[in-house]
Amino acid sequence: MSESLIIHSETKSERYAELVVQLQALLEGETDTIARMANVASALKEVFGWLWVGFYRVIDNELVLGPFQGPIACTRIAYNKGVCGTAWAKKTTIIVPDVEKFPGHIACSSLSKSEIVLPLLHDNKVVAVLDIDSATRDTFDEIDQDGLEKIITLLS
Ligand code: SME
Repeated sequence: MSESLIIHSETKSERYAELVVQLQALLEGETDTIARMANVASALKEVFGWLWVGFYRVIDNELVLGPFQGPIACTRIAYNKGVCGTAWAKKTTIIVPDVEKFPGHIACSSLSKSEIVLPLLHDNKVVAVLDIDSATRDTFDEIDQDGLEKIITLLS
């Protein structure tokens, strides 16, 4: 495919649908995990314009910062800490409408107001999380969860 994304749809769910197809083509044939994550982070930032989009990978029982787009971020997060560590421990997607109301939220940026974190599983083990921050409250809903779960399936 060409090296640029073409997204025409107005609704969020249609934008996800368009993006999934194009990412599928973009990732085809690329086996390097970092390269794949890098393009997914870039595509999501470009299409949706959120504050921060990135991956943390599980390395030696810690989450370590991986490919991302946005301001500099915390490099390591412990198991069960913050939204990312909790999504890892619970093996489930977490939507945080207001980060100030999430006990233990790790504020890498004071601009972040809401967040979604999705675990990436391999052989039923969490190998990474996709973390997205928004500069406004109540940004993420089930449409995002559904669209992003489809996108991270492309990475497994
Ligand atoms: N807020 C996250 C930390 C990572 S930054 O948002 C990039 C958390 O609580 O785990």
